[in-house]
Amino acid sequence: MNRKVTVVGAGHVGATVARGVADKELADVVLLDILEGVPQGKALDMLEACPIEGSDARVLGTNDYADTAGSDVVVITAGIARKPGMSRDDLLQTNFKIMKAVTENIVQHSPGCIVVPVTNPLDVMCQVVYKVSGLPRERVVGMAGVLDSARMRTFIAAELKVSVENTHAFVLGGHGDTMVPLPRYSTVAGIPITELLDQATIDRIVTRTANGGAEIVKLLGTGSAYYAPGSAATEMVEAILKDKKKILPCSTYLQGEYGIDGVFVGVPVKLGAGGVEDIIEIRLEAGERAALEKSANAVRELVAVVGV
Ligand code: APR
Repeated sequence: MNRKVTVVGAGHVGATVARGVADKELADVVLLDILEGVPQGKALDMLEACPIEGSDARVLGTNDYADTAGSDVVVITAGIARKPGMSRDDLLQTNFKIMKAVTENIVQHSPGCIVVPVTNPLDVMCQVVYKVSGLPRERVVGMAGVLDSARMRTFIAAELKVSVENTHAFVLGGHGDTMVPLPRYSTVAGIPITELLDQATIDRIVTRTANGGAEIVKLLGTGSAYYAPGSAATEMVEAILKDKKKILPCSTYLQGEYGIDGVFVGVPVKLGAGGVEDIIEIRLEAGERAALEKSANAVRELVAVVGV
């Protein structure tokens, strides 16, 4: 294969992304972790699944960044995950230090790569990668909105008893308690859900979407979600490697778009070989705009705490 994807962090999310990329034969995969043996063991296990999946992807597990050299895309999932009762923001200081160290290593070995941060708190971690790496903003694109909208699509499809393939959901803002699901732009076969569901049901779906991560953390008892986050990051990797120019909600560094400047927030972007090739601005109502600004300010506050 002539493409290379590195996944940093061979935990629950990292292994799920690595497997998704290998199964879909999108690229050769390097899985890196600080734990010795774990990335090697998981990578070998995935490699041995490839004959069954019909994939000739090579999967390598390592503790050495030299093996990641020349990666096209680097997905960062290294860090600690939430425990019950913790918010994503509680992970801030620990994951900041991990993110900084990981970023320095990946840009040294893959200066041309596109980085997809997944570690939480997501938008702040994107800002850390962006500032520490010195990469152009197009090449740092965070995974959050794809996951949040997948959760919303799941709930819409279940409520209306329709195929998930008919659903489309729009979620803006930071990946946290202030995320902004947009029912007006969320559709079933092109029909806005505001035409199909009553307000109380929509409110219920919106609340469940915003609490989607916490719902799973509570059920698991230890650790946080990884199947849907893994699928979401894989979709982004696919959009980049295949230059699909797919419009997806992603965390991106805004420079005046939506009236927001100098901070990573989730908005619809066009994702292709160049990374974020365009930022799609949609018209927001006053309430939606205020919610997005509130969300951006919540990210800003955390950015100030770590000082990037
Ligand atoms: N370099 C490389 N890997 C690291 C480092 C580091 N400096 N520090 C920690 N790790 C690795 C851990 O060894 C572990 O294998 O990151 C992995 C994290 O895996 P899990 O604990 O299983 O966490 P996971 O559920 O995968 O979540 C990772 O993604 O969705 C977010 O909120 C989630 O921030 C969390 C991250």
